[in-house]
Amino acid sequence: MLLITVYFYTALFRQGYVDAAGKAVLITGCDTGFGNQLAKALDGIGYQVYAGLWAVVNNAGTSTFGQVEWNTMEIYKFVSEVNLFGTIRITKAFLPLIRQAKGRVVNVASGLARQSAAGRSPYVVSKYGVEGFSQCLRYEMKKWGVHVSIIEPGNFIAATNIFTDESIKRLSTKLWNGMKPEVQEAYGREEFDKSVRTMRNFAENGVKDTSPVVNGMKDAVTSKYPKTRYEIKDLYWHIRTFIMLHLPEVVGDKLYHSI
Ligand SMILES: NC(=O)c1ccc[n+]([C@@H]2O[C@H](COP(=O)([O-])OP(=O)(O)OC[C@H]3O[C@@H](n4cnc5c(N)ncnc54)[C@H](OP(=O)(O)O)[C@@H]3O)[C@@H](O)[C@H]2O)c1
Repeated sequence: MLLITVYFYTALFRQGYVDAAGKAVLITGCDTGFGNQLAKALDGIGYQVYAGLWAVVNNAGTSTFGQVEWNTMEIYKFVSEVNLFGTIRITKAFLPLIRQAKGRVVNVASGLARQSAAGRSPYVVSKYGVEGFSQCLRYEMKKWGVHVSIIEPGNFIAATNIFTDESIKRLSTKLWNGMKPEVQEAYGREEFDKSVRTMRNFAENGVKDTSPVVNGMKDAVTSKYPKTRYEIKDLYWHIRTFIMLHLPEVVGDKLYHSI
């Protein structure tokens, strides 16, 4: 009963938006995808989108796929350099300004930031890092009046440039050519090609309307009461996340990972 009362109190009374006047927002990764659309949305309601006074949105990101033995250390380092260390670097650079403004840090993690998936380890590692970094920062920033929000989009790949047919093709050539001969032989070309097809299929079957993600990011920047975490997923990923996080691991292993 108490939980229900708190829920309705939160939903009914903790609403409203901050005044955009004199506030600037820094968004990384604005050329395409979520970042590009968020910049237009915030510009449309009067925020200046160039330098980090009120909010930093760490959105820039890159991705890859393929099993652990197929990925070189160079790929692991590159993905984490962009997704994780880029986020940490930008946050640290602008935190003094954000602290003064009692502003916002919005970090774009992923539906794969608190649960893993075979064949995605360089990305998963980087996004688990974003999640951990954001939580530490949130605890530290509370006393300064700075809100830290995490955005966890599910599969919107079909609607952005994070994977394209072209990039999947390029990455798969890079992966196969970068493998040691004994690894190529152990896994075989057939299994490799099958996993490329699985990735292409996953990339083509995501949600095509990005507005829930952009609205979530916008809310994290503009709401007087931003959420700690915006889980923006379809029903399949909500259920999967619940099972992976709250039920005994053997259930998720059987249902989603065939082990
Ligand atoms: N789409 C999804 O399904 C999904 C799901 C979960 C999380 N996410 C996350 O959402 C964020 C935005 O991705 P998106 O889906 O909108 O993909 P996107 O269309 O590829 O946008 C990514 C943006 O990041 C920039 N970027 C990439 N590498 C960079 C680098 N080394 N330095 C500076 N900027 C760089 C890109 O700029 P250039 O094109 O100029 O490189 C681009 O503007 C990422 O953090 C991603 O991991 C996406």
